[in-house]
Amino acid sequence: MFKVEQWIMAAVVVVAMGGGAVAQEPAPQEPYTPTIGQAGKDVIWVPTPPDLVELMLDLAKVGPQDFVMDLGSGDGRNIIAAAKRGARGVGVEYNDDMVALSARTAAAEGVGALAQFVKGDMYEADISKATVMALFLLPSNMEKLAPKFLALAPGSRIVSNTFGIPGWDPDQVAEINDGECESWCNALLWIVPAPVDGRWTVEGGGVLALNQEYQKVLGTLSTSGDPAPASVAGTLNGAQITFTAGNARYTAQVTGDRMQGTVTRGDQELVFVATRDR
Ligand SMILES: C[S@@+](CC[C@H](N)C(=O)[O-])C[C@H]1O[C@@H](n2cnc3c(N)ncnc32)[C@H](O)[C@@H]1O
Repeated sequence: MFKVEQWIMAAVVVVAMGGGAVAQEPAPQEPYTPTIGQAGKDVIWVPTPPDLVELMLDLAKVGPQDFVMDLGSGDGRNIIAAAKRGARGVGVEYNDDMVALSARTAAAEGVGALAQFVKGDMYEADISKATVMALFLLPSNMEKLAPKFLALAPGSRIVSNTFGIPGWDPDQVAEINDGECESWCNALLWIVPAPVDGRWTVEGGGVLALNQEYQKVLGTLSTSGDPAPASVAGTLNGAQITFTAGNARYTAQVTGDRMQGTVTRGDQELVFVATRDR
């Protein structure tokens, strides 16, 4: 994971990014050239290094089926790199000059039809159609955006340069291991879990009560005939839930208020279906 120096560097940049006044915008030039550290509305501009852009897109398994969004898209590099993998994408950026620069670069690199850029505020953007969010924002920005992330379709992926979403552990962390990377070496991945919190009636008899915290679930399973409820502990990978209860292992696909899959006990495998009580 992180070396001590990287944490120090990250901490320094967190302060600088939040401060918003590290460097002044250069006087308008032609062509426009952004300056690392230039002020932004809620976070300064620091670009994600190209190797890390690719690692983030690898981690999210970005392909032609995806619709990728970047909030605070800077010079457009995440969306342009995604477009080169065949994905459609939209970058939302508050700085007009950066929006225009991104569009020019996308066109020059032959992906203008797939990669689009709009002037906007990250907190106002409609991200509901995104299958992947590729981001480089501060934890404070991520925290404010987390409810919108959780409302994305289950299985949508969020990848971030270095910074986390407070309270929500990443599903995976990858690091650039070339022996030379000194800062911005880590990519974090979250997979949006299906919402499963609540009380479910198990077909054939039983009640499953689930308490969900992001991709983790705890609860109880009361089965008719059993003297006491069994403790439940499990995880979600998008719409797939896996949990154990007593000596049984459950795996099911969640679709809205229904989950269907199998329960395995020893060498016996049976169908498992539950519907959420409303
Ligand atoms: C750390 S940079 C990341 C740039 C790019 N995503 C990358 O990975 O290279 C953050 C960007 O967010 C932009 N920004 C700051 N506040 C914003 C807001 N409220 N809405 C949209 N963009 C914003 C800044 O102008 C800057 O370009």
